[in-house]
Amino acid sequence: MSETRRRHTSTASSATADFVVPRRRPIVLGNWKMNKTTTQAVVLAQDISNHYYRDYDRVETVLCPPFIDLKSVANVLEFDRSALRLGAQDVYWEESGAYTGAISPAMLVEVGCAYCIVGHSERRGLFGETDRDVNRKVQALLSAGISPVICVGEGAATREAGERPTQEFIAGQLEAAFEGVGASGAARSVVAYEPIWAIGTGRTATPEQAQEICAQIRGRISERYGHATAQAVRLVYGGSVKPENVGFFVQMPDLDGCLAGGAALDAPAFIELVKAFL
Ligand code: PGA
Repeated sequence: MSETRRRHTSTASSATADFVVPRRRPIVLGNWKMNKTTTQAVVLAQDISNHYYRDYDRVETVLCPPFIDLKSVANVLEFDRSALRLGAQDVYWEESGAYTGAISPAMLVEVGCAYCIVGHSERRGLFGETDRDVNRKVQALLSAGISPVICVGEGAATREAGERPTQEFIAGQLEAAFEGVGASGAARSVVAYEPIWAIGTGRTATPEQAQEICAQIRGRISERYGHATAQAVRLVYGGSVKPENVGFFVQMPDLDGCLAGGAALDAPAFIELVKAFL
């Protein structure tokens, strides 16, 4: 990824077009979803860690296993003195108490999580997570020192309704997620554009579609928090990213990495995604 890739020509803040902005550190996240028992998770983490050379420090690489595997994966990374980072797939916003089945931000901190996915479309769609819930989770994570990875993305019907409904839908999710969050919290967040119609379907957004939405997201963040914050926030694409298509996304100026599901379960494939952003 070269400096030219960072040349601003397409974001909504293009009053400042064509100046070179400081490079954001790319980030590649693997969302393991509800896959891998603890034994299997250890094997996968070891596999990824074994392939993980020093060069990859240049791309922040985050493993997001199921809650129950976090400690075992953390042990693998600690044993290997690995630069790989740990992330969770969800959190509850309360500090502690009678919330059966829930996991608090402090629990994630203690196990070593630096990141936590929030608002994934599967959480929203299958478990009824609302924009308000996402916002509470974002605030709780930031207070605990964990960077939220905020997922936004439209369904097929919205996409088919056209560009404007798609943009409005995503803007609404973004505004809700950042409600009450200050500029420094926003700058520490990652926003993942994950069109629902592309998740686990083998259908990807075109790199141009992903770039267009990410430019819009950066523009909204700029309007809300100012140019510097918008330039600090990392934006990633998710939805059937694989070694065969990741190269196209790397070229897009507002994309700083990817969030992979299926490809994250295979160590060589996942490493290919990381290498693509070197
Ligand atoms: P996928 O999942 O790569 O399997 O499409 C991505 C995601 O849901 O984060």
